[in-house]
Amino acid sequence: MYLCPQPKNIELKKGMLYFPVKSMPEIVKKITPELSQKESYRINIDENGVLIEGADDTGIYYGELTLKQLMLNYRGCLPYMYLYDEPEFLYRGFMIDSCRHFFTVDEIKKMIDGAAYFKLNKFHFHLSDDQGFRIEIKSYPKLTTVGSVRPSSNFGRGENDNNPYGGYYTKEELKEIVAYCKERHIEVIPEFDFPGHTTAVLAAYPELSCTGEEIQPKTTAGIFKDILCAGNPESLKLVFAVLDELCEIFTGEYIHIGGDEAPKTRWCECDKCKEKLNELGLVNMDQLQGYLANEAAAYLKKKGKKAICWNEAIKGGNVEKDNITVALWRDKTKASIEWANGGNPLIAECFTPYYVDYPYGMHPLKSVYMFEPRKLRGLTSLGGAAVIGVESPIWTEYVTSFEKMTYLCFPRWLAVAETGWNNVNKKGYAKFIKTAEFFCDILKGMGITPAPKEDWDILPQSRLKETVGFFSNTLSKSAVKQFFGKADK
Ligand code: ACM
Ligand code: ZN
Repeated sequence: MYLCPQPKNIELKKGMLYFPVKSMPEIVKKITPELSQKESYRINIDENGVLIEGADDTGIYYGELTLKQLMLNYRGCLPYMYLYDEPEFLYRGFMIDSCRHFFTVDEIKKMIDGAAYFKLNKFHFHLSDDQGFRIEIKSYPKLTTVGSVRPSSNFGRGENDNNPYGGYYTKEELKEIVAYCKERHIEVIPEFDFPGHTTAVLAAYPELSCTGEEIQPKTTAGIFKDILCAGNPESLKLVFAVLDELCEIFTGEYIHIGGDEAPKTRWCECDKCKEKLNELGLVNMDQLQGYLANEAAAYLKKKGKKAICWNEAIKGGNVEKDNITVALWRDKTKASIEWANGGNPLIAECFTPYYVDYPYGMHPLKSVYMFEPRKLRGLTSLGGAAVIGVESPIWTEYVTSFEKMTYLCFPRWLAVAETGWNNVNKKGYAKFIKTAEFFCDILKGMGITPAPKEDWDILPQSRLKETVGFFSNTLSKSAVKQFFGKADK
């Protein structure tokens, strides 16, 4: 029987429930207080029909999803059974970058369908970056009139384009995506990435950079020195205004406040930033970034929201712990491991193997499947327990089409979903491969084209070739520097 993620417990019983092919059996659904674990559910199939009981609405929804998957395995009948299921993690995320390349609402909805089918439940929507700001913000209209359009695209790989490239989502479109996700029990977590990755913001409002120079949204991949000035009070004013409007649109628990890859070059040369640092009695610029994260998180707290930030934001060691969750993608300082070891919430979004924008040769399906989020190097058992879940991003510098995105994400996101639901209690890779094959056919029917099986786990010698090929074909000098963590202009 092919199910993904695998339910915790299935007891098959003697007998079959028959019903007309292409129709549904009789289903009774109810919330039951006997189920205490959030999102848990159980299914009973016997001569009386199908009973789905959930701990909550989401549990019932997941019971229905599992029933749908069961029905794909049988035609016009279902074996009598008792099934109990609950997730290991309540945070099971996928991220889409719509900044480097823009994806339409319909394309985003298809990706959501694919992820929802495997019970992923957090859609982190990366909506602001150097190459384009993608959220309509009424109080700062130039964020989209200026910040959403770059003059050309020069990401390399033979896909250079001298035409302007733009796009953004209106508030109505974003609300439509939120509603679409809600029907699928998915929370949308928008990201406003700052103080780094803000070239598009500074193109719109150059007075908010340390130099005040006119710039344009970036046309290449990279890490860029011009970042939001921390010493200018107008910067936080913009941040709060954006957060206000995000909170209106996005009804979930979390807002992502970015914080990755923010070089401090400009801050170190800026009188306003240096003054701010002294005024606050901080000892370095990483702490100044921590201050910005604290201000944003406190502002969100007043609005009843929690903040998520990338691990770089806590490097200064001064981030308040009470309202921030850290997403660990790559952390040479180990600050995020210590963060989790102190019992603070961490999302495992590790570059290796969860960055699915990298080729299968670099991050093969098996490595994604085998990943153990509670066993990251240096995590204690308290740290392991502080891991609230997993997330896999698709960054889109080199993802120029929807087909390329679906190829890279599927079936790797099935493996992420399996880990998010079962953690280490998985049923083995051989079984997973068969299940992934089965569901890849289903995905095709949903308009999603996954990678063909021969690409999932290519031989080690081809892996090296594919990896080298990816870097030599894809990356400009600045992007290679980015990969090794150095800023470029
Ligand atoms: C990241 O990959 N810069 C979060
Ligand atoms: Zn400054």
